[in-house]
Amino acid sequence: MASVFALVLSLPAMAETEPETTDPIVINGGEIELPTAVPAPDHLEGAFDQVYSGWLFRDSETQAMQLDDFENPGMIFVDQGIDDWNTIEGEAGKSCASCHEGIESMKGVRAVMPKVNAEGELWSMEDYINDCRTNRMQAEALDWNGDRMKNMTAAISVQSRGMPMDVAIDGPAKPYWEQGKEMYYTRYGQLELACANCHEDHYGDWIRADHLSQGMTNGFPVYRLKQAALVSQHNRFRGCIRDTRGETFAMGSDEFRALELYVASRGNGLPVEGVSVRH
Ligand code: HEC
Ligand code: HEC
Repeated sequence: MASVFALVLSLPAMAETEPETTDPIVINGGEIELPTAVPAPDHLEGAFDQVYSGWLFRDSETQAMQLDDFENPGMIFVDQGIDDWNTIEGEAGKSCASCHEGIESMKGVRAVMPKVNAEGELWSMEDYINDCRTNRMQAEALDWNGDRMKNMTAAISVQSRGMPMDVAIDGPAKPYWEQGKEMYYTRYGQLELACANCHEDHYGDWIRADHLSQGMTNGFPVYRLKQAALVSQHNRFRGCIRDTRGETFAMGSDEFRALELYVASRGNGLPVEGVSVRH
């Protein structure tokens, strides 16, 4: 860990390195094409001109796995999520499909998550899923980081693949967005590093064996080869804060919801890519 500290400090401030190419991600031989670079949203003026998919920063083997749904190890979990979608559970005797019909009805949902609910609270997709389970199905809530939850968020995300991320940051979302923004620039841990120190000041640089991306979330949930499992956004945030040797927040905490909104808004315009593959 000391090496992370040394590396980041030894790099000059604002040393970001642009990716060599910004080819689109061409999936299933051309069936789906996802741009990997789009103009940065207005609120990032001064920080970024372009925002980039994390896919650009991965090695070619990892990239290749995302080019074919049969090779993408995350897709099996999408299938499991779809099975769950159609499974009756709970006292009300309903499945997700009983009310929402086909899972294609979730098209567009991932692109606007997290979003403020009717009561004015910021909810992640996980919260919407558990609300339906507990209040509409009389079934048990799923663990935030459990396999069934990740399978379901993956299955729902894929329905929006290719749609530009478009989270709302004004109106009732504004205070949450401000909170998330403040977190993004707060230095955490013994290493005193903010998200921005790595993902804004040093994207494109190498940190240990890792090629730093802009830390975008449009690919989530991601399949991580290192963990051989799907990884949720909040779990990734936790890992990044841990790497600063900091005390981290809980998955499903209000802090991480606010951070999720802010980070998502940095990627507004990038296509929903999930399920993507990362090392
Ligand atoms: C008894 C009917 C019912 C069942 C069963 C049900 N839902 Fe819902 N769901 C709703 C209603 C009503 C809403 C709110 C109105 C809307 O946005 O469609 C909603 C909203 C949602 C949303 C938020 C959509 C958005 O655009 O804001 C998600 C995600 C969702 N449901 C997922 C699920 C999943 C996953 C299951 C199964 C585990 C499920 N629902 C089961 C009725 C149901
Ligand atoms: C010490 C540097 C460092 C800090 C500080 C840091 N990260 Fe990361 N982060 C990484 C590395 C390394 C990776 C893996 C390579 C990559 O995708 O950038 C990563 C990956 C990510 C990813 C996954 C991107 C993708 O496309 O898969 C997200 C999202 C992310 N970080 C968000 C954050 C947030 C939010 C914070 C602040 C709470 C943060 N990071 C702080 C180093 C850092």
